[in-house]
Amino acid sequence: MDRGAKFYVMSAGLILGTAVCSVMLGMAFKQDEMLHEQARKRASALADMAMLARDWNTAYGGVFVERTPSVAVSPFTEGRDFTAPDGKAYTLKSHMPMIREISERARISNGFAFRITGLEPLNPVNTPDDWEKAALSGLKPGEREATGVVEAPGGMQFRSVRPLYSDASCRSCHGGSGGSGTLMGGISVTLPYQDLHAAIRRNFIAMLSLSAALLVLFGLTIYFLIWKMLDRLSRQKAELAALNETKDRLLGMAAHDLRTPLAGVVGLAGLLREESKDPLALGFVEGILESSARMLGLINELLDVTKINTGKLDLKPRPTDIKGLLVESVRFNAMLARQKDIAVVAELPDGLGTASVDPDRFKQVLDNLISNAVKYSDPRTTVTVGARLDADGRSIWVQDQGVGIKEEELGRVFDEFFKASSRPTAGESSHGLGLAIVKKIVESHGGTVSVNSAPGKGSRFVVRLPKGL
Ligand code: HEC
Repeated sequence: MDRGAKFYVMSAGLILGTAVCSVMLGMAFKQDEMLHEQARKRASALADMAMLARDWNTAYGGVFVERTPSVAVSPFTEGRDFTAPDGKAYTLKSHMPMIREISERARISNGFAFRITGLEPLNPVNTPDDWEKAALSGLKPGEREATGVVEAPGGMQFRSVRPLYSDASCRSCHGGSGGSGTLMGGISVTLPYQDLHAAIRRNFIAMLSLSAALLVLFGLTIYFLIWKMLDRLSRQKAELAALNETKDRLLGMAAHDLRTPLAGVVGLAGLLREESKDPLALGFVEGILESSARMLGLINELLDVTKINTGKLDLKPRPTDIKGLLVESVRFNAMLARQKDIAVVAELPDGLGTASVDPDRFKQVLDNLISNAVKYSDPRTTVTVGARLDADGRSIWVQDQGVGIKEEELGRVFDEFFKASSRPTAGESSHGLGLAIVKKIVESHGGTVSVNSAPGKGSRFVVRLPKGL
């Protein structure tokens, strides 16, 4: 298989593989985000609950509960405890012990915890930890919460903190120092995140292995389907090329072997024409000569094509006067064209210089192009041969006023055995080899040949020879 095709298959596979992987990774990240968002929502709901409970408590300025042996007494509010007339003792539960006690229950039964922490705490146990301090001080005005995932000794934790601002109801216990609206601290929620984190990680690994598996699958598919197919195609191409070469060789051998006896026929017919006095026989002999000349032409063209195709056309380039060659070819073809009443004229500037070409082969190119132009032109028209030398090299053109070529046939006129739908104007023969030979000879010289034509507008064939030839 040729390297270009392999390169394309490989790049296509690479691009597809990368696309699949990025989609998978994108999905994994998205899931990660979703799980994180889920934890955040849960923490937020818990903070809401804690806040509601706390607000309920502070709205009453704390609540009194009966003082029994199992009820803890807070040293900060003990002064407000009292004994009712019926002898029962009551102790004030501020929002703090209430939240702490609820949190303790939550921690034991559900594995999460919350607490209230203060920037200037009455009770030193409410001093914020490093994360809370950083989160509270990093809050922007109007922000309702700060969240984060932290590594703790017991595993990963999801944390959030919500700011608490003072209002009038706080004053009864906290005094009026802060005034309303000052940031006093926050409600902090901690959720275990270890399991979720592990799930995210597992998910990520699963996605990664899935994309790796997909990639392998992709690679294998590409390998078996395309790679193998291309390999087979290239093998078939090689086989076809070999067959084609055999065909060319056989054709060449046949043409070569036909030429000798044909030359005999032409020679003998020539002799017969000299000797024969009978006008009827002379007519037949002329017919034989004409037919064999046409046959010889075809055989010669076949030989040329096979020679070129099998790489046996050895060019013998030597410095050749281009103008001289053109003039000679124009003169020769003008003579033949006169029979059809077609003028072949040269418009050649001086200074075309010499180029290193095989003069015989190059003359064949010019003869083919000019005789072709004559073949497809009507009487009383002109075929013009021109040339120019410029910075890019030499161009030589043959322009006719003939029948022209249909647009859809333009691309194939240089193909072997291609016959355009338009016919030669005087029933001349055409085997579809002349232009193929032109193209091959020009290309063996490193040049190019092109055609410009439209039906009814004539055709212009241009041969370009590279600079420095
Ligand atoms: C019933 C009395 C009472 C009321 C009303 C009250 N608090 Fe407190 N608060 C306390 C006590 C007592 C503590 C500390 C005791 C503890 O941690 O056990 C405290 C602690 C705090 C803390 C933790 C930091 C610290 O100082 O230890 C914050 C923050 C706080 N309160 C905010 C508020 C806000 C905001 C309000 C008003 C919406 C409020 N409190 C209303 C009694 C009260």
